[in-house]
Amino acid sequence: MGSIAGANVSSLEITTLPKESGKKANFGAVIDGIDLNNISNDEVQALKDAIWVNKVVVVRGQKDLLPAKQWELVTRFDPEAPQVHSHGSVQSFNKFGGLLSKSRDVIGIPGAENVRLIGKGYQGSDHYGIKNKTVNKPLSHDWHATELPQEDFECGHTRFQRWHIDAPLYERDPAWFTTLRCIKRPTYPKVTVHWDDGSGQTMEVEPGLTAFFSNVQTYELMTTDERNVVDHSWVEYAPHPYQWMGSCRGNSNGLGVVSEGREKALEDLGEWDPTKVKRYPMVWVNPVTGEKSFMVHGICARRLFLRASEKDEPKIVDDVAEIRRWLKPLQERILKPEYIILPSLEEGDIVMWANWQCFHTAIDYPDSYGPRTMHQANIGASSAPVGPVSIPVMSW
Ligand SMILES: [Fe+2]
Repeated sequence: MGSIAGANVSSLEITTLPKESGKKANFGAVIDGIDLNNISNDEVQALKDAIWVNKVVVVRGQKDLLPAKQWELVTRFDPEAPQVHSHGSVQSFNKFGGLLSKSRDVIGIPGAENVRLIGKGYQGSDHYGIKNKTVNKPLSHDWHATELPQEDFECGHTRFQRWHIDAPLYERDPAWFTTLRCIKRPTYPKVTVHWDDGSGQTMEVEPGLTAFFSNVQTYELMTTDERNVVDHSWVEYAPHPYQWMGSCRGNSNGLGVVSEGREKALEDLGEWDPTKVKRYPMVWVNPVTGEKSFMVHGICARRLFLRASEKDEPKIVDDVAEIRRWLKPLQERILKPEYIILPSLEEGDIVMWANWQCFHTAIDYPDSYGPRTMHQANIGASSAPVGPVSIPVMSW
């Protein structure tokens, strides 16, 4: 048991994930001794602290968690936040989700619509009131610019789907945490994740899990000069960013998009409100530990404002190809097997992560392995991320 924040509440047993040999990832924990159907305010606070400190936690043994209680927990994490999923209602998500809704079926759980059923294949005769549903639009590799041949995929050759944070990046602020309960998933055979980017890197993993890397570590891997720039710089996201980049295609390693000129022109985005466009510092400070994370969601970035001190005039980069060229070496440094973890989930375990600290991605597996059922919920945060220095307020 780690002597970390949150461990002082007796019912929470927090165990940091054992370090596998050769691994450099330094985050993740498992939590036992808590029933999320019946959790006190002290336990909510301890759990919150544990997520901020450990970045990814697996709360074990929540087989009987009611969807309404999962949503209630999410709202108790951030009681000042508007009471809606960070991506809005299911109806507006399916209408305006762009890339995000194009690539998968997202269904609200009846009576707890902000808890989203995410999965693959047949979901059973009655899944919390969802009758005989087969998820026909599972995650796929369709969006990678370089095709993954179906016959390779059937043999267990897979890829990181898309490294991201759960964040609308327009109107609402990114959720502090995302919660994802595993209800059903296949556990074997293993699949092999291939980077397929010429690096030859691979990882053998269990199917149906989520992969993570820590952007605190991304920041730590930077040089002093690089840190100076990212500490003082900020990024502006496109209006309706997932519609704006909805026709873009991704790199095979799941990190970033290929520059092919597929972004929509702003005038083709329909109505949008300049006051809802998001500008965030590149570095987000962890409100509990003070750690710095490099948090640029490259696939949605439309303009960078680069400077190395508060006195500098920022250099504006508005060519998306240049933005991606600038980000690539900074973000790919972490994209190595030794920095990536996939905490194992048994049925009933719920993984919760500090969305302000790490990137995550799904990894698809062949249909023949069997169905997957997960319940996901998060809430747009009550506050915007804060950087190490303030960024100027700018008007359009
Ligand atoms: Fe996600």
